[in-house]
Amino acid sequence: MITLNINGQEMPVEASPETPLLWVLRDTLQLTGTKYGCGMSLCGACTVHMDGKAVRSCVTPVSAAADAKIQTIEGVGEGAAGKAVQQAWEQLDVVQCGYCQSGQIMSAVALLEDNRVPSDADIDEAMGGNVCRCATYVRIRAAIHEAAKSLA
Ligand code: FES
Ligand code: FES
Repeated sequence: MITLNINGQEMPVEASPETPLLWVLRDTLQLTGTKYGCGMSLCGACTVHMDGKAVRSCVTPVSAAADAKIQTIEGVGEGAAGKAVQQAWEQLDVVQCGYCQSGQIMSAVALLEDNRVPSDADIDEAMGGNVCRCATYVRIRAAIHEAAKSLA
C-alpha cells in the first residue's frame, strides 16, 4: 500500500512501486484529466506537479511520489496561478482539440509559480517539452503573458 497526497488529499493505493504515476492517477484513482501521449517523457501530455515542479507522470514511478505533494489538473485551479492560467486560457480561447492542454496548463502554472514575469524566452524554455499537434503555441504564449498580468 502506498499513500499519495493528491490535490491536498491523502489517497491510499495498491500499486507496485515501479508503476508509472500516470496509470495510478488515471486507472486507479480515475483522475483522467492527466493524459497519456507518448509514455516516454517526450510530449508533456502527462504533466503533473510534484512538490510544485512540473514532472512527467508517465516516467515517474509511483514510489517516487509517495512523500511528495502531487497536484493534477483537477486541483490546479485552487491556487492563484492556476486560476489565472485557466481564466487566461478561456479568455484567449487557447484550446483546439484539447488533448495536450492539461499538460500545457500544468507546465504554465509551474512556470508562473516560479517566475511571475516570464519573458518570451522563459516561456519557450518552460513550455518546450509540451507538444501540441494542433499548434496552439502562439495562443499559449499569449495566455501565459495574460495570466502573468492578472497576477501582478
Ligand atoms: S505521455 Fe508523458 S511525456 Fe508524453
Ligand atoms: S490542442 Fe490539440 S494537441 Fe494541443
